[in-house]
Amino acid sequence: MSLAAETAAKPATSAHAIEAVSLGRRYGDVVAAESVSFSVAKGEFFALLGPNGAGKTTVMHMLTTLVQPTSGSASVMGHDVVRDAEKVRRQLGMVFQDPALDERLTAKENLDIHAVLYGIPRAQRAPAVQQALTWASLAEVGQRRVRAFSGGMKRRLELSRAIMHGPRVLFLDEPTIGLDPQGRRHLWERIAALREDGMTVLMTTHYMPEAEACDRVGIIDKGKLVEIGAPREIIAKHPGAKTLEDAFLKLTGRAFRDEEATAHELVVNFGKRGGEHTR
Ligand SMILES: Nc1ncnc2c1ncn2[C@@H]1O[C@H](COP(=O)(O)OP(=O)(O)O)[C@@H](O)[C@H]1O
Ligand SMILES: [Mg+2]
Repeated sequence: MSLAAETAAKPATSAHAIEAVSLGRRYGDVVAAESVSFSVAKGEFFALLGPNGAGKTTVMHMLTTLVQPTSGSASVMGHDVVRDAEKVRRQLGMVFQDPALDERLTAKENLDIHAVLYGIPRAQRAPAVQQALTWASLAEVGQRRVRAFSGGMKRRLELSRAIMHGPRVLFLDEPTIGLDPQGRRHLWERIAALREDGMTVLMTTHYMPEAEACDRVGIIDKGKLVEIGAPREIIAKHPGAKTLEDAFLKLTGRAFRDEEATAHELVVNFGKRGGEHTR
């Protein structure tokens, strides 16, 4: 390949931080995501909104290389999530839907492990950990075991951990779920602060005020992206809708979705339990 062609093909020049093209994932007969196409600009805050079982986590996991797409393609900072998975991983930070801290360890120890895993040089580790604790307003409890933390403290710790290695793109899967209003507010202030730093954020949420605070929202239902745009644009598109929630309910209906969510949870939990018995 000529140098010019190489330069032209160089992926990191993409204008988008995230791009999904007809992205899909099947689990046997279950279509978890289908033909999902959208892009997120650098520095943009983008929310994926959808009922339980809509496919939000599946899309997020494909974008973060944790799940392989069964159709379509996606890139993060210009790197293909399948072909260049390693490069994609180096660009991103992630807060998982379920808490992913070692509760037996202190906050500081949890961050230490992450610093080692992400190759933060030894000399920079202690200051990086301290900075992360301070950023999360946890400096005073850094030596305490995470088990004793409130939900909000755990979430702030996970968020500060996710940005510790300086990622360009942050993925937050229902970051504020289960928090009391104070905890949610405190965490949200930290998330909002990232906007000032130019961070690109893709988050999933059930809370309309959080989605409304994002630059753009993608509404996903039964694996498909059914709407995308700035919150105000989406409201304007749906006659009679005064709020994003009105538009959301018009698009996704009012039926309960607990079953879709629990079918998979049952399989996962059964698998986990099975694993324990066979040990
Ligand atoms: N590993 C899996 N195996 C089988 N089905 C799955 C798996 N992961 C997700 N699903 C199914 O895919 C659909 C979307 O799930 P998910 O992406 O977790 O939705 P959401 O995050 O919007 O609640 C659901 O029907 C779920 O049961
Ligand atoms: Mg989910």
